[in-house]
Amino acid sequence: MRRPRGHRWSPLRRRLLLALAALAARPALAQRNAGPYVPTPWPIVDAMLALAGVRADDYLIDLGCGDGRLVITAARRFGARGYGVDIDPGLVKLANANAAEAGVAGQVRFDERDLFETDIGAATVLTLYLLPHIVTDLVPRILAQMPAGARVVSHDYALAPWPHDEELAFDVAEKEFVSGTTHTRLYRYVVPARIGGEWRLELPGASPARLSVRQQGWRATAAVASGARTSEVDEIVIRGATVRILLPPMGRAAARTQLEGRLHGDALEGEVVQPSGRGAWRAVRLDAGTR
Ligand SMILES: C[S@@+](CC[C@H](N)C(=O)[O-])C[C@H]1O[C@@H](n2cnc3c(N)ncnc32)[C@H](O)[C@@H]1O
Repeated sequence: MRRPRGHRWSPLRRRLLLALAALAARPALAQRNAGPYVPTPWPIVDAMLALAGVRADDYLIDLGCGDGRLVITAARRFGARGYGVDIDPGLVKLANANAAEAGVAGQVRFDERDLFETDIGAATVLTLYLLPHIVTDLVPRILAQMPAGARVVSHDYALAPWPHDEELAFDVAEKEFVSGTTHTRLYRYVVPARIGGEWRLELPGASPARLSVRQQGWRATAAVASGARTSEVDEIVIRGATVRILLPPMGRAAARTQLEGRLHGDALEGEVVQPSGRGAWRAVRLDAGTR
């Protein structure tokens, strides 16, 4: 906008413009360094991809991708698609060149980008080799953004306090050269289904009950209401898309009932496994439209 001749800015407007100019002149906020470049040795790349169970229909993201070796190997060996980000422009250039050389440039991409600003919502596999406090800081984002059943594999550092599903420990001679130790640990996590809310529970030979699940990340508690009686569920464990529920004695069942099932859209479906009966059970969301 051009300023008309002879016009004087009001003191308030001048103060506003000066404040905006000062803001624009400020140096960009420093990116948070999530760890120095230490490439994952090749035998550990293989072990990480095997632990994640990478398949052709996976989309693997490596946060802090270095030379792109995890993403490129997943694409070349398993046909997966992938994406990597790094703050080091030289490494990003190298990763894209490595992808072209490996013939997987059409399946993968690498960008110079801060991993804390990277959307991980499309990843079905996430690989990490970052500082211990950084992987822990990522847990809320992983649980909020990644789809249920997605796998996370972290090299050397656990995503505490999230309990891992599987852990591997082994020694790799090549690691001594880059990390000063041969010792390696890999941790695998599976993103839990989101089942918090209200459900209509249908058990074989029983009237429908109401199941109320309170979920925070991987932890859940629940209550079941049948007739006029509401009881806390003895145990509810969510692992990926599967759920195990131990119901207290209710209705005609004198003993506790164990349910195992799987989330399919807005329904949990599975088998009554013990001890008070067998057969199929099902729970249907009552709050589907309100979430
Ligand atoms: C230990 S290396 C791991 C490299 C690769 N993932 C591998 O396993 O071979 C960590 C990488 O994270 C990158 N990095 C550090 N802070 C970052 C940030 N804020 N955003 C993106 N990348 C970052 C570093 O440049 C480095 O390449």
